Amino acid sequence: MESRMIIETTNLTKRYGRQTAVNDLSLKVKKGEIFGFLGPNGAGKTTTLLMLLGLSHPSRGSATVCGLNPLRMAKDVKRHVGYLPENVGFYGDMDAIQSLEYVADLNGIRRDEARAKIDELLELVGLKENARKKTAAFSRGMKQRLGIAEVLIKNPEVLFLDEPTLGLDPEGAIQVIGLIESLNQDKGITVLLSSHNLSQVQKISDRVGIMIGGNLIAEGSIDALAEEKFGMGEKEYSLEEIYMKYFQEV
Ligand SMILES: Nc1ncnc2c1ncn2[C@@H]1O[C@H](COP(=O)(O)OP(=O)(O)OP(=O)(O)O)[C@@H](O)[C@H]1O
Ligand SMILES: [Mg+2]
Repeated sequence: MESRMIIETTNLTKRYGRQTAVNDLSLKVKKGEIFGFLGPNGAGKTTTLLMLLGLSHPSRGSATVCGLNPLRMAKDVKRHVGYLPENVGFYGDMDAIQSLEYVADLNGIRRDEARAKIDELLELVGLKENARKKTAAFSRGMKQRLGIAEVLIKNPEVLFLDEPTLGLDPEGAIQVIGLIESLNQDKGITVLLSSHNLSQVQKISDRVGIMIGGNLIAEGSIDALAEEKFGMGEKEYSLEEIYMKYFQEV
């Protein structure tokens, strides 16, 4: 049972002074699923991701990622997890290929090996035509795609994606969502997806968690949460309707 969990937290808590950003979080993400991590601005989603990566120390509680303790084994956790932060940054004077070579170097991937992988990834994220353009001249969507290519270079087992479609045009967002889905289905990558775009989350998530004010107030499949809030019935509720119902009742 234990090994089926990619992420497991127990009473994970983060306080900043007197403010509690994450409160007693007990979260489970199963191997192979896409988990939608939802909640309003300031709910504690990014703070949770940072603790799972060992980049922020919990005030209390514990977590494991791929069976590893991120506090003690942050480096090993990072080997398994590809993290796309809220704001992806690049060196503007590098082009897409150079940026990817740089990340490959950082991850200790041999140049000849990296070369083939980079070609494959540029194709996968739809950046082949812009491979030699400096990233300073990239649009937001192009940066987002390059960010995804960067996190895939080390063949991660898990992806933490913090708002991956923020600021993308509808077509770009649909492509990125499709890409996430195919990474999950074809490569078996487990995905923890934080997003405010509920229709996109609904489209691809196996389960969701709703966090409000640092508290995880709901966790389960969208059908299960609909039943919890609206009971059994004919009507199919959108994730937006379900989310708003939880939100109003906090
Ligand atoms: N370094 C910090 N120092 C002090 N407070 C912080 C720090 N980082 C986050 N917080 C606070 O913790 C709370 C949770 O923030 P967090 O960034 O985790 O929210 P979020 O759910 O990711 O929100 P968003 O949807 O806006 O990205 C907020 O109240 C925020 O102000
Ligand atoms: Mg955030």
